[in-house]
Amino acid sequence: MNDQIIFEPYNLNGLQLSNRIVMAPMTRSRSDNPGNVATELTACYYRQRASAGLIITEGTYVSRDAVGYVNVPGIYTKEQVKGWKLVTDAVHGQGGKIFAQLWHVGRLSHPDLLDGELPLAPSALNPLAKAFTPEGFKDTVDAREMTVEQIKKTINDFKQAAANAVEAGFDGVELHAANGYLLHQFFNLYSNKRQDQYGGSIKNRARILFDILDALRSVIDMKKVGVRLNPSLHGIQGMMLDEETIAVHDYIVAKLNEYELAYLHLTEPFTDVSGNPWGIEEVAKRYRPLYNGTIIINRGFNKAKASKVLNDGDADLVSFGVPFIANPDLVERFKADAPLNQADPSTFYTPGEKGYTDYPVMAGQ
Ligand SMILES: Cc1cc2nc3c(=O)[nH]c(=O)nc-3n(C[C@H](O)[C@H](O)[C@H](O)COP(=O)(O)O)c2cc1C
Repeated sequence: MNDQIIFEPYNLNGLQLSNRIVMAPMTRSRSDNPGNVATELTACYYRQRASAGLIITEGTYVSRDAVGYVNVPGIYTKEQVKGWKLVTDAVHGQGGKIFAQLWHVGRLSHPDLLDGELPLAPSALNPLAKAFTPEGFKDTVDAREMTVEQIKKTINDFKQAAANAVEAGFDGVELHAANGYLLHQFFNLYSNKRQDQYGGSIKNRARILFDILDALRSVIDMKKVGVRLNPSLHGIQGMMLDEETIAVHDYIVAKLNEYELAYLHLTEPFTDVSGNPWGIEEVAKRYRPLYNGTIIINRGFNKAKASKVLNDGDADLVSFGVPFIANPDLVERFKADAPLNQADPSTFYTPGEKGYTDYPVMAGQ
């Protein structure tokens, strides 16, 4: 076994990464300013973590309709693009690479976050989850079924957001089609009851993702686009596995081969799906033979497990979430086999530097 594999450089469809360690997208809710703009503080946070082979930013909203949590930076206004430029300059200044994760939360939002409007979703259903509003967590409500016109507008919003990301200097974008958010809501039988071209068959339920990819072609090279999927999400974020979950994800992965993307970012199950006939217990193992391009695998990895999954050939890159929150120098710590700082969940989403930019690097750095 090659125990140095995670430190090897990697060619991401033309973009040279200095190692195979990726920082997973993580919402940190530090844009507590009126325009929800990324700031110098955001730039500092990402600069500190720029030794990752690739950083994927926190989910960033593609439009006003896409909003679903407080204090999250968007990428749909000029001011927001300027804010993100601070971030890309900071990361590039350290020799790092950075993609923006493009996000629409769909029915996981709340009228308090949408000027009183109901959240948009494939169907008028309540995910029976909690929304993070300015007044704290509130129960979600019945969503508004999107008209085809609203779907077309949303596709265009993703396109504009990708163009904005290019303008802001990002190396690429990741479409957030996981974790129970809008695109995932289209894939699932329980959240999508439509009977038009965006519902019913597997092809129809997957259609919005491919419409977005097709729209993106005119503003960004497909080599710079990644897609995130979480096929085994169950019992959280308003999502339940259904009898076609595996089939719809198999279809999506197979069709993604036609696009020659930067990567496919997959997540191993967040909850135990063993014994559930509709769940995939080993996501990377299932999709490695079905996908021709780069696979990033995520969830619950440490140095040893990352080394193993890469040596086994089940993925090409590994993304780390919580370990990167607490260890800006995660790559250096892995190299030195140094102990890791533990993350403090109470400051994951709180404003300011505490728990954001004040985690210490190793002594002597
Ligand atoms: C504070 C926090 C915020 C997150 N926000 C996002 C997000 O904006 N987009 C996303 O795709 N995943 C998000 N995730 C999920 C992470 O990308 C990742 O899947 C998860 O942390 C599991 O990886 P880990 O075991 O290495 O931490 C978030 C996770 C955490 C802990």
